[in-house]
Amino acid sequence: MAQNTSPSRYTITAALPYTNGPIHIGHLAGVYVPADIYSRYLRLKGNDVAFVCGSDEHGVAISMKAKKEGVTPKEIIDKYHGIIKKSFADFGISFDNYSRTSAQVHHETASEFFKKMYEQGDFIEEETEQLYDDEANQFLADRFVIGTCPRCGHHEAYGDQCENCGSSLNATDLIDPKSTITGTVPTLKKTKHWFLPLDRYEGFLKKWILEGHKSDWKPNVYGQCKSWIDEGLKPRAVTRDLDWGIPVPVDGGEGKVLYVWFDAPIGYISSTKEWAEREGKDWEPYWKDQSTKLVHFIGKDNIVFHCIIFPSMLQANGDYILPENVPANEFLNLEGNKLSTSKNWAVWLHEYLEEFPDMQDVLRYALTANAPETKDNDFTWKDFQARNNNELVAIFGNFVNRVAVLTHKYYDGTIPAPGELTNTDKETLSSLKSYPDLLSNSLERYRFREGSQELMNLARLGNKYLADAEPWKLIKTDEERVKTIMYVALQIAAGLAILSEPFLPFTSKKLKGILNVQSGKVETSWASVSSEDTLLPAGHIINKSELLFRKIEDAEIEHQLQKLEDTKKENASTTNSAATMENKIVPQKDTITYDDFSKLDMRVGTIIEAEKMPKADKLLVLKVDTGLDTRTIVSGIAKSFKPEDIVGKKVTVLVNLAPRKLRGVESQGMILMTENKEEKLVFVNPDADGVLNGEVIS
Ligand code: MF3
Ligand code: ZN
Repeated sequence: MAQNTSPSRYTITAALPYTNGPIHIGHLAGVYVPADIYSRYLRLKGNDVAFVCGSDEHGVAISMKAKKEGVTPKEIIDKYHGIIKKSFADFGISFDNYSRTSAQVHHETASEFFKKMYEQGDFIEEETEQLYDDEANQFLADRFVIGTCPRCGHHEAYGDQCENCGSSLNATDLIDPKSTITGTVPTLKKTKHWFLPLDRYEGFLKKWILEGHKSDWKPNVYGQCKSWIDEGLKPRAVTRDLDWGIPVPVDGGEGKVLYVWFDAPIGYISSTKEWAEREGKDWEPYWKDQSTKLVHFIGKDNIVFHCIIFPSMLQANGDYILPENVPANEFLNLEGNKLSTSKNWAVWLHEYLEEFPDMQDVLRYALTANAPETKDNDFTWKDFQARNNNELVAIFGNFVNRVAVLTHKYYDGTIPAPGELTNTDKETLSSLKSYPDLLSNSLERYRFREGSQELMNLARLGNKYLADAEPWKLIKTDEERVKTIMYVALQIAAGLAILSEPFLPFTSKKLKGILNVQSGKVETSWASVSSEDTLLPAGHIINKSELLFRKIEDAEIEHQLQKLEDTKKENASTTNSAATMENKIVPQKDTITYDDFSKLDMRVGTIIEAEKMPKADKLLVLKVDTGLDTRTIVSGIAKSFKPEDIVGKKVTVLVNLAPRKLRGVESQGMILMTENKEEKLVFVNPDADGVLNGEVIS
């Protein structure tokens, strides 16, 4: 049982945020709240935990922001490092250390790491042609270039990654590349770089991930790793021709810096060193002792770096441990749209706190209860309000408040001695004792959402116990029985104070204050909740009650929604396209069974004739070769296509849709379409050559 495992040493890392802007709810939900819940939980269980993070201050994202604002990169990083660090502290993210990659200890650690690999012959040195901006007089890599993704055709892929399909790219892979500095078309110029030959690690990665972590890593993480490995790993440049970053510390490296994704993950190690030095500890066991458990909390766009590249670096370096797990989350959206810093489509943490002061736990709870653990999820203000009013206020807060108020009213705050326990009392207490294990079970499988609901179930247990027992009525007829009831209810309140700490640290602290169990007065470890000993002994005196949560009014939610509406309007007026909020994400529909799916008969077809439907400006009448027959399909696509442009086009056809008449013409099927960014229709295109008409789509 999770409950009885002996304490271990853990190194918990949370992705180092780029210091090119403040942080928002997406960061919190995806990475920092789950990492914090996990770390707090592990500490409560008596483990030795180093929870480290820091600012990611190199890379093109920072240089670009500095260029745009006409300031130095140093000014940018100092500003945002401060803001970000404060947001984390404000929200109770309990890092043991929050460092930054501009720190000297990091420059030294990353340089040493590179040098050791260099000396061991772990790199390939190669002169290749790289994109060069003649006007800006500099090489273009990563986010300094934008172009069409060779994998998915997305027009705004960056030189290092396509955010549409997630592929990791080299700048020279882009089709029609353009410099993001000057907008010009780059030329090619020779330059020397060092490459990490990932192909050398294929065997190691296959064994370690594909064989070793098939069942304990999340399917989204395992799946991405598998497809990377299956595609074949290629050497990747780990140096860049830039003037912002850590200088390449070997001969011939003058004027070049380490690739930001080479230095940043080493930041976890530097941060641990900085912490250990301050605390008078040795950092090495946290990274080199095989019994230490290393866990990386990240968002899904960071998977390849944490599961393939950094582990290969650690493996090459020799004496480091590898992550035991990388519980990457999917993305959080906001009111149906992708979170976006540049479009100001976000709830910024510092702004949230101005409008909801002292309500950090509410946001932590709402984000956890709706965390994007297995799929992208949507944050809505209505859901936020409902989580607060219906759960935190109506269940958790209500229960605790009743217990504390009644204890004062009946006993001046002293815990009464119980009489004989009824079966219900016994069941309730034994149910309370089962919660540490229940929660451990969720948390150790990184199911924080589920854990947050279990915690609320404990509050429900208390609420129901009181509502059923009705001590406020019984007090008139059976004072002795009320003592027992209050005693039991108080134990549940104490259980909540302890077990809520990872999720709701501010609330837990307040509640411990109310129950007068702060600072070691009674045992408040995780295990104490399930032990045979009473949490709050008779005779113990509690403090006055204070409200843990307050109701959120409709007007407050309206105000937030109005702010978002204003953002939309601002965006619409500053760009020429009406469709500024690109990537409108329609929520997923209800699950269907495979049988439902298999009823659809979809085939590859070719449009062989197309003409306008007379007197209808949206409709085209098409003749489509479906491989089965040639049939007529009436399609509402006339606004997006001219008839002559689509003849010969391969399309996807739903052939067994019941025929129906449109303007007197019978349509015998449907062509699958979607919308592009400009809200123009495009075909869902089976575009591979050599696919024959009639081929079944499955
Ligand atoms: N700065 C990166 C991002 O925001 C994350 C870096 S994680 C580290 O996507 F491992 F490199 F530190
Ligand atoms: Zn792509």
